[in-house]
Amino acid sequence: MASEYWENRFKNEGKMWKLEPSDSTLLALDLFKANGIEKILIPGFGYGRNARVFIDNGFRVTGIEISQSAIEIAKANGLDCTIHHGSVTTMPFDNDQFEGIFCYALIHLLNKRERKDFLKACYNQLSKNGLMVFTVASTQMNMYGSGKAISKDRFRISKGLNVFFYDDKAVSNEFSPFGLVQCSDIEEPVKYMSGYDAMKLKLVICKKVHNSSFITTPPNDCSL
Ligand SMILES: C[S@@+](CC[C@H](N)C(=O)[O-])C[C@H]1O[C@@H](n2cnc3c(N)ncnc32)[C@H](O)[C@@H]1O
Repeated sequence: MASEYWENRFKNEGKMWKLEPSDSTLLALDLFKANGIEKILIPGFGYGRNARVFIDNGFRVTGIEISQSAIEIAKANGLDCTIHHGSVTTMPFDNDQFEGIFCYALIHLLNKRERKDFLKACYNQLSKNGLMVFTVASTQMNMYGSGKAISKDRFRISKGLNVFFYDDKAVSNEFSPFGLVQCSDIEEPVKYMSGYDAMKLKLVICKKVHNSSFITTPPNDCSL
């Protein structure tokens, strides 16, 4: 199971990606700041290597994380924010609305139904004009095609680790109903280990332009 997989990894490997934030985090930080965003949700919080940058910049941060060990590492490292313990598949964890949502390397771990429900749950907790930034696995990654094929572009890499790899069409199909405004290919440097190629990921930005909860039609006004 995914929860056991992540719990074991954090228990055995601790701060496995060290403490430097990903480049996508810094892009999201600039985007959120430029749009006056101060209150954000971080699903798939891990031990907070990315969250710390937002907290240090004065953002009010709430996290969601499936691994209790990851949450304990975050707290032991002084991250003073609410981190809900549980799966994003059981969102919402509170009645809050967030101006921004930043989600790094989580959504591609879910199955098709879970990805849809997760996006819907995020959208429902996003304030009007709020922005969501997702960093997702891409079909350009070296890992694409490893392990056992489960369905189109989804592979069991190891026990408890299933990954769906997005191409542009999949991004458009899945994110358009939730205010997709931009999708770009990014190369995320592996900062925690030397000698590794940058990871080929996609950065997906969505905006909520209606003050309603989930809508089925993509909004017309897609300007940031
Ligand atoms: C690839 S890691 C990325 C962690 C973090 N975003 C970072 O970059 O440091 C995926 C994270 O999502 C968490 N996770 C996996 N499945 C989850 C789920 N269904 N609900 C909540 N968190 C989950 C894992 O425990 C892990 O912390």
